[in-house]
Amino acid sequence: MAKRYHSSSNFFFLLSGENPELAVFEFESVLSTLDVQIDIEISPDNRIIDFHFIDPFSKDSALDVVISIIKRTTMAHFCCENLFQVSFSATLPASFEKLTSIFQSTSIRDLTPDLSFSVITKRIGEPVGLFKKQEITQDFSAFLGSKIQEFNFRKVVDLENPDEKFIAILSKHGVWFGKFIFQSLRNEVRLRTSHKRPFFHPSSMNPILQRTMVNLAALKPGEWLLDPFCGTGGALIESSRLGIQSVGVEIDRRMIWGAGQNLVRDHDFNEKTHLIFGDATKLCFKTNSFSAIVTDPPYGTAASTQGLDLIELLKKTFKELYSLLKPGSRVVFAVPSDLDIEDRVAEILKATYKIFFHYVHRSLTRKILVFILQ
Ligand SMILES: C[S@@+](CC[C@H](N)C(=O)[O-])C[C@H]1O[C@@H](n2cnc3c(N)ncnc32)[C@H](O)[C@@H]1O
Repeated sequence: MAKRYHSSSNFFFLLSGENPELAVFEFESVLSTLDVQIDIEISPDNRIIDFHFIDPFSKDSALDVVISIIKRTTMAHFCCENLFQVSFSATLPASFEKLTSIFQSTSIRDLTPDLSFSVITKRIGEPVGLFKKQEITQDFSAFLGSKIQEFNFRKVVDLENPDEKFIAILSKHGVWFGKFIFQSLRNEVRLRTSHKRPFFHPSSMNPILQRTMVNLAALKPGEWLLDPFCGTGGALIESSRLGIQSVGVEIDRRMIWGAGQNLVRDHDFNEKTHLIFGDATKLCFKTNSFSAIVTDPPYGTAASTQGLDLIELLKKTFKELYSLLKPGSRVVFAVPSDLDIEDRVAEILKATYKIFFHYVHRSLTRKILVFILQ
């Protein structure tokens, strides 16, 4: 069993198990927008990210960075300050005592004495060995609580309204234990469903996926994004909320009116968002105007391709848009998983690409394509 000790400026994030590879790539894309040197380690199941600041950082600045990441990503659940971590390379330890033998020497001794606390344990992935027991989460929380009190006898447990929350994650790859810092805004984004906007259309994409796609474009606030098939404005709303400047193009007059309604009624509307009534295959912008394209092209019965075959429409669009993109830009879009388009677009954009499959319902799995230009 390998043990690792981290200093208090290190953190861990729990990622969603829904689509772990996409979650990791979203996380890495968001990290690449920060001007901070960070080293990350990803657990073998892609569920936990260990996060280490390379440069010396004050605790407050470190917290600001960590919170900005968790607020932006859609596929991370929460982040914690890492108090201890045990990795299992081969076999699991047989008892709690073995798991927590490192307690004696870690920062658990130095917790704020007068703050009340609670401990929650989460079991992730396939339960194995010791973790197969159903009751393990309660037992382990109680065990950790008693250990905390052993070293910090003034700390009182308060399960209802604790001053500090501690979280233990049990997985077959290890145990992570930390002080909870911030919950992701995923549920808040989910609540802003497109049905609640002033203008709704069945082709609207859900805000979580829309925001994930904007994050995959790895844009910094102030950079420019283009959505050539903007529909009711989902990508523009999410980018606007992140301080990204954007242009949406739409060929259907009713949709562009609706997108305008949705944007101006969004309370985080940023005035650097523009709508153009036009055709994605015939645009007129200066070369190198944009740092990314994020879009949800028309397919299925809800959104019209204006009579064109979808593959033809996409080829025509990306030939038109290629020169508008800066070197190194990303192009992110979603299509049904059986549409064979990626190699043709990669050739047009002279780009490499990644594919992530996203289950929508029984009869629709989408693939999210991320092209990275040279
Ligand atoms: C799937 S919808 C976009 C949905 C959008 N992401 C949202 O959340 O509302 C695709 C949109 O592309 C528009 N469209 C189709 N052909 C177009 C073209 N040549 N130029 C611009 N927009 C076009 C359709 O009118 C439709 O509104």
